Order: sequence, then C-alpha cells, then structure tokens
Amino acid sequence: MNGDNTSYGRVIGIGSYLPKDILTNDDMAKIVETSDEWITERTGIKERHISDPETDTSESMAIEAAKKAVADSGIDTKEIGLIIVASTTPNVLFPVLSASVQAAIDADNAMCFDMNAACPGFVTAFVTAQNYIKAGAVDCALVIGTENLTNYVNFEDRGTCILFGDGAGAVILKAEKDTKYDVIMHAAGKRGECMHCESYMQKGKEKTEEFLKSNYINMDGQTVFKFAVTEVPRVIEDLLKKTGTSADEIDYFILHQANRRIIESVAKRLKQPIEKFPMNIERTANTSSASIPILLDEMKKDGRIGEGKKHVIMSSFGAGLLWGAFETKI
Ligand SMILES: CC(C)(COP(=O)(O)OP(=O)(O)OC[C@H]1O[C@@H](n2cnc3c(N)ncnc32)[C@H](O)[C@@H]1OP(=O)(O)O)[C@@H](O)C(=O)NCCC(=O)NCCS
Repeated sequence: MNGDNTSYGRVIGIGSYLPKDILTNDDMAKIVETSDEWITERTGIKERHISDPETDTSESMAIEAAKKAVADSGIDTKEIGLIIVASTTPNVLFPVLSASVQAAIDADNAMCFDMNAACPGFVTAFVTAQNYIKAGAVDCALVIGTENLTNYVNFEDRGTCILFGDGAGAVILKAEKDTKYDVIMHAAGKRGECMHCESYMQKGKEKTEEFLKSNYINMDGQTVFKFAVTEVPRVIEDLLKKTGTSADEIDYFILHQANRRIIESVAKRLKQPIEKFPMNIERTANTSSASIPILLDEMKKDGRIGEGKKHVIMSSFGAGLLWGAFETKI
C-alpha cells in the first residue's frame, strides 16, 4: 500500500519470446578464441538465443511477447491506453515499434512511444508507465523490452560477443488502488564512455575500419563490472530505506541478467541468500532491456510469482550510465 488514494499498475499479464536458434559456448569457441569454461566461470552464461535473420526482428519479437502477455492477462486489447517499447536495437527508426505492436494486437485506443534506455530500458519504461497510471492518464499499459543485440556485436571481439543474446518480454499493467510501488532511478552521463556503440548513419563520417568497429558494442568490461557491483546494491539499499522495508522482507530481487558474478556480489553485499536472486542468464545471456520481463515470464510459468503476493525489487543498470530499482508486489 502507498498509504493514500493513489493508483499504480499491477502486473496482470506477462509474455516473452526467445528465438529458436541457440548458440552455445562451444559454438562460440568456434568463432572466437574462448572456451565454455572461461565464459561460464566469468559470466555464468552457457548459451544464448540468437535471432533468425529471416524471421526475427526487434519488432516481430516485441509483437510475439505482447500477444502472449495479452493472452496471459485476459484483457481486451481495446483497454490498453499506453504502449511503451524499450529497445536499444530497433530494426526501424519509424514507424516506432510500439505503433507496430499496437497495429498487430488491435490496441486501437493506446498512445504509443518507444524509448532507448539501454539495458535498464524495461525498468525505465515500467516506471514511465506507472507515472501515466498514477496521473490518471491511463488505466492499462503494455510495457515491452525487445532486443536484437547479436546484430550489434562484433564476432571478432571475444570480450563482448560472448555476453549478449536476443529476445523480448512484455507485461500488462492495470491500475489498482492498493498496489505497492516505489522507485529510485539514476544516471551518470559523465561516466558513459565505458559502453559505446555509434550509429552507422552519420553524415561526414568516412566508413573507415575504425569507424565500422565503433558501430558495434564496445565496452570496458571491468569498468562496467565495478559500476554494477557498486551502484546496484547501493540503489537497492536506498530504496529499502526510502520504503522502510528490510531486505529480509523481500521475496525476490529480480536483477538485470548481465553476469552471474554481478548478481552474486549484489546478494553478498545485501546479505541475502542467492536463492532470492532468480537467474536465467545461463540460458539467455544478456538480453538488455528484455532480460527482466523474460525472467518474469519464466517465474510466472513456474509459479514463483503471479498472484500479486510476492514482494519484489527489480533493478537494472547499463549504458549511459543508467541504473535504478523499483519495489512492487507481483
Ligand atoms: C567482460 C567480462 C566477462 C570480462 O571478464 P574480466 O574478468 O573482467 O576479464 P578481462 O577483461 O580483465 O580479461 C582478462 C583476460 O581474459 C581475456 N578474455 C576476454 N574475453 C575472453 C573470452 N571470451 N575468452 C577467453 N579469454 C577472454 C582477455 O583478453 C584478458 O586476457 P589478458 O589477461 O591476456 O589480456 C567482465 O568484465 C564483465 O562481465 N563485465 C561486465 C560487462 C557487462 O555486464 N556489460 C553489460 C552491462 S549491461
């Protein structure tokens, strides 16, 4: 409860889509000089889903995830007042992906926009939708994270290409008066250079080899690692302080799936058992803004969440630098 008459969205439907093709660590070792042992030990990743160039785009994956979330919720799509698609890797700049989703599911009463907030895209879109609901502007929102990251990884750079996978996840939020919700979000643009991917479409840029490399995901892994293990537990602790909740009262800490060691470090710092930190990174790798809703879908399917009774914190971090966390019941 938020202690007043404010409405926030409760998650009433979840769906996800993962491409059928799988690239294992052993497959990866045939592409770059690496090994299953190295990748598993440093990241927890064993395999990742990889988009089919013939059939999978960020748009098509978003639509599939949205259809499943709608079916799971049982709502009439005409009830949806807002669709936000978070994606760092849209296949088209416009029409925006959210409008394509709207058309595909006949959500004719929805306003639509896309957002790029890198890996925390889903969390940022969720928080934005909650503000529309709180303001009374909409009653029902569809929030999607969709990524086709393997389009943007340099399969000659073993430090990055092993980390990412493709997929999409979606949730339906419905306004309710007694929904628990609170949030803290941060950004540090001055520290942003450690994760960098330039757009190919730039006037005046000669298409040199160096420039073409900058159109892939470039990353200083250790700096990103240190950023995550410092800021994620800090923002969660600050949120717990803000809401007057003890970490022991939280059933699950649902974190962006970037690296098992980052998640283990957060668990240790919060002095919480690792069992409270659900993970699917072993099978999905880092799917950026899709990682949390894909994990939520798995958790709902196996009964860990879905009845509005589990007290959770969701937290993500990524390029920008951006990071944040919100608390809710799901
Ligand atoms: C990328 C990451 C796994 C690298 O692990 P690390 O322990 O920091 O490794 P380093 O970058 O220090 O590299 C150590 C050595 O392993 C090598 N290496 C890097 N990638 C490798 C791979 N896939 N296979 C084998 N060796 C590899 C490096 O070349 C380096 O070799 P050297 O010592 O001979 O120079 C780790 O830094 C990480 O996960 N960071 C966070 C990244 C992330 O999550 N980004 C997305 C955030 S949203």
